[in-house]
Amino acid sequence: MHPTAELRSVKSDRLKGKRIVLGVTGSIAAVECVKLSRELIRHGADVIAVMTPEATRILGASAMEFATGNPVITELTGAVEHVSLCGDVPDRADLLLLSPCTANTLGKVVLAIDDTPVTTFATTAIGTGIPVMIVPAMHGTMYQHPVVQENLEKARGMGLEIVQPLLEESKAKMAPLDEIVGRVVQRLSDRALYGKKVLIVTGATQEPIDDMRVVTNVATGRSGIYLALEAHSHGAEVLLLVGKGVTGVPGHIRSEIFGTTADLVKNIEGLREVWGVPDMAIFSAAISDYSPVRKEGKLPSGEKGMVVKMERTPKVVEAFRREYPDAFLVGYKAEALSDREELLRRAYRRLTEVGMDLIVANDLKDVGEERNIVLLITPGKDAFEVDGRKEEIARFIMDKSLEMLRE
Ligand SMILES: Cc1cc2nc3c(=O)[nH]c(=O)nc-3n(C[C@H](O)[C@H](O)[C@H](O)COP(=O)(O)O)c2cc1C
Repeated sequence: MHPTAELRSVKSDRLKGKRIVLGVTGSIAAVECVKLSRELIRHGADVIAVMTPEATRILGASAMEFATGNPVITELTGAVEHVSLCGDVPDRADLLLLSPCTANTLGKVVLAIDDTPVTTFATTAIGTGIPVMIVPAMHGTMYQHPVVQENLEKARGMGLEIVQPLLEESKAKMAPLDEIVGRVVQRLSDRALYGKKVLIVTGATQEPIDDMRVVTNVATGRSGIYLALEAHSHGAEVLLLVGKGVTGVPGHIRSEIFGTTADLVKNIEGLREVWGVPDMAIFSAAISDYSPVRKEGKLPSGEKGMVVKMERTPKVVEAFRREYPDAFLVGYKAEALSDREELLRRAYRRLTEVGMDLIVANDLKDVGEERNIVLLITPGKDAFEVDGRKEEIARFIMDKSLEMLRE
């Protein structure tokens, strides 16, 4: 058994059954391809590497054979590997991923010049209509060359997908691995949310007591991150609003930080102008119901005790519903009670009061670091209990939402 077998689908099965040809070219970023291949395998993909002669001067073919568990194509033979993998054949590859893609290979791809195994694969894949994704990497000055820019435009015009490089330290660096993998997942998904805007709000609000202290809560924001990844994997344009303490937001998910409940309301009301009208919104954030009456400066430290007066905060989900009556809206209701029927009743009441399309109810005792038990309740009073890891619950919520949107 090749060691890749142990990795397959350990993170998800979003790429299960997908065959990805990874075209590696002579960029120093080729050294990232071992990790990239293994990350794709962790999501279930079968990866076959094709390398240019220049790529093999930077990274040995054995490293890629180890990383993928498949023989590496470094030259074309009488087996016409480009045709058997990217031609008009029944079990052809699902994607040709050119990562990293040099300025040289990019130029040849858009001109259909085939003088390396990778460029021959590209011409064949484009002719067949197999999706091609290009992840450029080069020195900053090469990237600024007007013809390189023209070639990127030309590639886009041909329907090839470009994963933008990171422009830093005078380089156009290959995009981070999580972004590449996220884009691959998105490209090969059902694209059920393609062209749709999905807003996810997650984490905790922070309501100031004075200029230093805040009232907040223990929400980690993890569920919202998984929901954002789910929406992204179905092709959506995602905006993730996160509370200040949330960590681990993937770089390829657009995110903005919020502080107070009032900030959040302002942000939501202004979305139309800055981002557009959301088609779907999921509020998994723990939003404070009360806010201290804020004191200027810093409250004294040496007192025996202190009373902090609290006021009601503005209603965020209600504000969202007023602004965007047509969006598919998913809310959360957390309660500290062990009575399932009462939890259902309260959650359903909240769903109808706000006009939500789905509500996720949970009892605080069932909320763990990694696992939760939740109840999903629909306007028709159907209830589904899910007990699992947060990413599994996120997937269930997204699948249920998509099912309801299709009805
Ligand atoms: C160590 C090293 C790193 C290189 N990195 C890059 C790079 O990141 N991007 C690029 O366009 N060219 C880079 N080059 C230049 C390419 O290797 C060169 O243009 C080569 O002809 C590309 O061939 P290929 O596209 O067939 O792989 C690098 C060269 C060397 C020796």
